[in-house]
Amino acid sequence: MKRLLGISYLFWVLIPVGLGYNRAPPQPGPEVAEKAGSPWSLETYRYDTYHRMEEIYQWMSQISEKYKDVVTQHLLGMTYEAQPMYYLKISQPSNNTKKIIWMDCGIHAREWIAPAFCQWFVKENRLWRKSRSSHDNGTCFGTDLNRNFDVQWCSIGASKNCQDLTFCGTGPVSEPETKAVSSFIESKKEDILCFLTIHSHGQLILTPYGYTKNKSSNHEELIQVGQKAANALKAKHGTNYKVGSNATSGSSRDWAQDIGIRFSYTFELRDTGTHGFVLPEDQIEPTCEETMEAVLSILDDVYEKQWPSNAAAKVTSTAVVLSLLMSFVSLL
Ligand SMILES: *[C@@H]1O[C@H](CO)[C@@H](O)[C@H](O)[C@H]1NC(C)=O
Ligand SMILES: *[C@@H]1O[C@H](CO)[C@@H](O)[C@H](O)[C@H]1NC(C)=O
Ligand SMILES: *[C@@H]1O[C@H](CO)[C@@H](O)[C@H](O)[C@H]1NC(C)=O
Ligand SMILES: *[C@@H]1O[C@H](CO)[C@@H](O)[C@H](O)[C@H]1NC(C)=O
Ligand SMILES: [Zn+2]
Repeated sequence: MKRLLGISYLFWVLIPVGLGYNRAPPQPGPEVAEKAGSPWSLETYRYDTYHRMEEIYQWMSQISEKYKDVVTQHLLGMTYEAQPMYYLKISQPSNNTKKIIWMDCGIHAREWIAPAFCQWFVKENRLWRKSRSSHDNGTCFGTDLNRNFDVQWCSIGASKNCQDLTFCGTGPVSEPETKAVSSFIESKKEDILCFLTIHSHGQLILTPYGYTKNKSSNHEELIQVGQKAANALKAKHGTNYKVGSNATSGSSRDWAQDIGIRFSYTFELRDTGTHGFVLPEDQIEPTCEETMEAVLSILDDVYEKQWPSNAAAKVTSTAVVLSLLMSFVSLL
């Protein structure tokens, strides 16, 4: 857990809600209708229901406003319907060069559980950060958490932080979303260590390749890391996942692998077809919980493979780790 937001990693989490949510808005559940009159609030935001596009946009800007030292919102590009696509950058303030973990959730708009998971993931990071700042006194990673580091909020085109992204704004009309994502990733590929693309459904952790039966150069490694993730996932709620490649069609993970990103996976979340794309809301929480375990397992492995010598050194203080774990658990 402690590796999540260390100096070594930062996260880019793309929740492209503009993609079709407006065309197929989830029906508000009874509790949403109930709350209709009450003001929107980050504190009461529910992570166990599906939200409409506007609500997810609002969530993204509120969470990056409230935790602006760690979470910033950036424009990736526009959808063909001229909806902005944002990604969240999650990072501890530090001048160290960091490797990047990419995760996109909801490239396919009908897969509602995918953006729900990304929101869950960001929420969990927030908890982690909270417990970290109150317990380890900022010593763990050599940065002082309490200093008032002024991270720019990057509203559309307004921040200099975003200058390198503006090329995405006026993409060609055909599949601008894919182009925005791919040119963005391509421009940073040297720094991207892990590429996770979250979809539903099928309960699969897919490795490259999908476009050929050929195996990727690090196939065994990918399978081993993926299988460990599936085991961690199953340990949570007993859900069975299959791990492997399936030469049925090419996808972004293939492309990510081919441009040199060492760890590239597609997650197909619950279920195996009973409900399909419209996974019942009472499965959001367990699905997110178990997926979190799988993603953390991958991140741990990626970390250890990338920085083998650091992995041991990182466990500097058992007390710190324990207090982190304890506070994390108590906050859940
Ligand atoms: C990063 O470097 C700049 C310029 O040296 C400095 O002003 C800033 O405080 C540093 N930030 C952190 C988090 O160390
Ligand atoms: C936390 O940091 C402050 C300021 O550097 C220091 O005075 C204090 O002793 C530290 N506390 C712990 C538990 O390390
Ligand atoms: C699969 O591997 C074979 C043998 O190395 C190679 O000739 C072929 O081009 C590869 N196919 C694809 C689609 O990469
Ligand atoms: C591969 O994909 C096909 C078609 O979608 C499916 O029938 C098959 O079960 C998949 N195999 C694995 C191992 O997931
Ligand atoms: Zn999909």
